[in-house]
Amino acid sequence: MIWTVKKRLYRTQQQVMKVASAVIPFPIPVLLTGPGSVKNLAENLKVRGLKNVLLVTDKILMDLKLPESLLDSLQENGVKYTVYDDVQPNPTIESVENGRKVYQKNKCDCIIGFGGGSAIDCAKIIGARISNPFMSVRRMKGLFRVFLPIPPFFCVPTTAGTGSETTVAAVITDAATHEKFAINDLKLIPKIAVLDPELMVGLPPHITSTTGMDALTHAVEAYIGLNGNKFTDENAKNATKLIFENLEEAYKNGKNMEARNNMALASFYAGAAFTRAYVGYVHAIAHNMGGLYGVPHGLANAIIMPYVLEFCRKEAEKKLAGLAIAGGIGTRGESEEVLSRRFIDKVKTMNKKMKIPTFIKELKEKDIPLIAKRALDEAHPDYPVPRIMTLAECEELVGKLLKK
Ligand SMILES: NC(=O)c1ccc[n+]([C@@H]2O[C@H](COP(=O)([O-])OP(=O)(O)OC[C@H]3O[C@@H](n4cnc5c(N)ncnc54)[C@H](O)[C@@H]3O)[C@@H](O)[C@H]2O)c1
Ligand SMILES: [Fe+2]
Repeated sequence: MIWTVKKRLYRTQQQVMKVASAVIPFPIPVLLTGPGSVKNLAENLKVRGLKNVLLVTDKILMDLKLPESLLDSLQENGVKYTVYDDVQPNPTIESVENGRKVYQKNKCDCIIGFGGGSAIDCAKIIGARISNPFMSVRRMKGLFRVFLPIPPFFCVPTTAGTGSETTVAAVITDAATHEKFAINDLKLIPKIAVLDPELMVGLPPHITSTTGMDALTHAVEAYIGLNGNKFTDENAKNATKLIFENLEEAYKNGKNMEARNNMALASFYAGAAFTRAYVGYVHAIAHNMGGLYGVPHGLANAIIMPYVLEFCRKEAEKKLAGLAIAGGIGTRGESEEVLSRRFIDKVKTMNKKMKIPTFIKELKEKDIPLIAKRALDEAHPDYPVPRIMTLAECEELVGKLLKK
């Protein structure tokens, strides 16, 4: 009885969010696209009168010299820069605070997030802390808690997965509690996003596959959830099609510029969909695998997605069938049940072909109750999932992720 009332309350709250999401004016970043487009960012900063950038990235990308052409063009345009490259995958509050000090010490006036979701999210939160020094990172957790606008912010994704270059979200880990949580605010959407496939050709296959599956998870969770609208549905369908057509090729042949370009677009479309329509239990559980064990975000999503889709297949049957058709693996004449099952099989096959396992090797049985509790705390009531899970159901699902 109490559970039925609770579920109703969740649904009511989600409906309010759906209306809000349809009327909230989400800013859309200006896009610079195509091979070599990163070189055009500097002149855009100059035109805006910006003089001193903090570039937030990680050491691997610096060693690969990936930011070099951007840094050269900043110099050519008379824009000073400081590099902060101490971001780790699944970035922590500490990385944010250190980056904030570097920004202040060098009197920067804008920020570029350059890298995967980790660098971009860290950059977003550095910006939030710069303009809101009275708010700790923890206090900004949740929705619309970034009070003052962040300094001018620009994004250069080097993975095709998170969509952070167009989302309201920034995900961060509290190293003290191993809790991973999101800060969501319109002020975190960048002014300009660069989708330059040349920066992605060297992305190793296992990161290509897992980040690409993150983008697919965004498209799927946004589409099968109850808060989608015409705009998010179109973006989710486009992303799914592009991912089905290009991800395995980008994985096998990283230098295929067209596949890389299409994956960069897919990640952007999927980001545009989920930032308005939310994600679901795949993400809620995956965040805990990142926070507790440092499992890469895309890898966790890829592994968890088939289990969650099986859990809600019936409730999401019509939507999964629609996505199967949009993705080019089915036709309108077929039954929705067949199409929805084929969609789940397709995800499993893609995982298998890209050597993604069916279990999370780091998962410990004793942690399952904590993971399930934290996942549901994250998902309820915000995520408009097609089928609401009880704690027992969540524990059972997480149990299936143990290595057999
Ligand atoms: N803000 C959002 O909307 C959003 C959405 C989904 C996920 N996330 C978060 O983003 C983070 C994950 O980001 P990610 O999946 O992009 O991975 P990542 O940023 O953690 O990068 C993974 C690894 O790939 C390397 N790498 C990145 N680009 C490379 C390139 N072009 N060539 C070679 N190596 C490269 C990085 O150095 C790093 O070691 C997680 O913290 C996740 O929770 C954020
Ligand atoms: Fe994600």
